[in-house]
Amino acid sequence: MKILVLNGSPRPNGTVASLLKAVTEPLSTGHDIEWIDVCGLHMKFCTACMACREKETCILPEDDAHRVGNKIRNADALVIGTPTHWGNMSSPLKLLLDRNVPVFMGESPKGIPVPRQKGKGAVVVTACTTPWPFNVLLPESRGALRAVGEVLHYGGYKVVGTLTKPGTKKSKAISPSLAAKARRLGEKLVRR
Ligand SMILES: Cc1cc2nc3c(=O)[nH]c(=O)nc-3n(C[C@H](O)[C@H](O)[C@H](O)COP(=O)(O)O)c2cc1C
Repeated sequence: MKILVLNGSPRPNGTVASLLKAVTEPLSTGHDIEWIDVCGLHMKFCTACMACREKETCILPEDDAHRVGNKIRNADALVIGTPTHWGNMSSPLKLLLDRNVPVFMGESPKGIPVPRQKGKGAVVVTACTTPWPFNVLLPESRGALRAVGEVLHYGGYKVVGTLTKPGTKKSKAISPSLAAKARRLGEKLVRR
């Protein structure tokens, strides 16, 4: 299975990267895993011209957003990580996803959204400083997961599970139980 990992954290060795590794490293034998640090990409922001809805591609000059869009198209599954930033996904990840609307969804002649990656699986992970249970009660990590889930939903992906490391101000370490959950999520992703 071809698995694309999108690390939306600007910190290549941060908690989000650790969570992404915990999900994907056990799958490295037998699966083709490609890791992309989204914050290292060169992309212009979406100008909201809406031309992609008709042309089915972003009309801006070719950059990394197009190149990663093709990788998303060609991957069987996605593992997306984002730090919780203002109760949302990180801005570079949002930029990448904004630029790739036509990769995720089309529109019927009546303007009804049509998923373009239907049937594929995804895992979403996040980390935040807010400790449990406030990361869920307030829309902190919950907000970030919801925002990424919104894009995946329109793409037709099945999110097989999510993983959150709250309270990173106090401790950044991934507990053995969180690592075990990460491993189970990876197995679930490739079993589909
Ligand atoms: C711009 C910015 C916004 C943030 N917003 C939140 C937030 O809304 N809620 C929260 O709990 N933590 C927030 N944080 C803290 C990060 O989510 C936290 O440090 C996380 O562990 C970072 O993971 P990383 O080291 O893998 O990037 C924010 C951090 C930054 C830099």
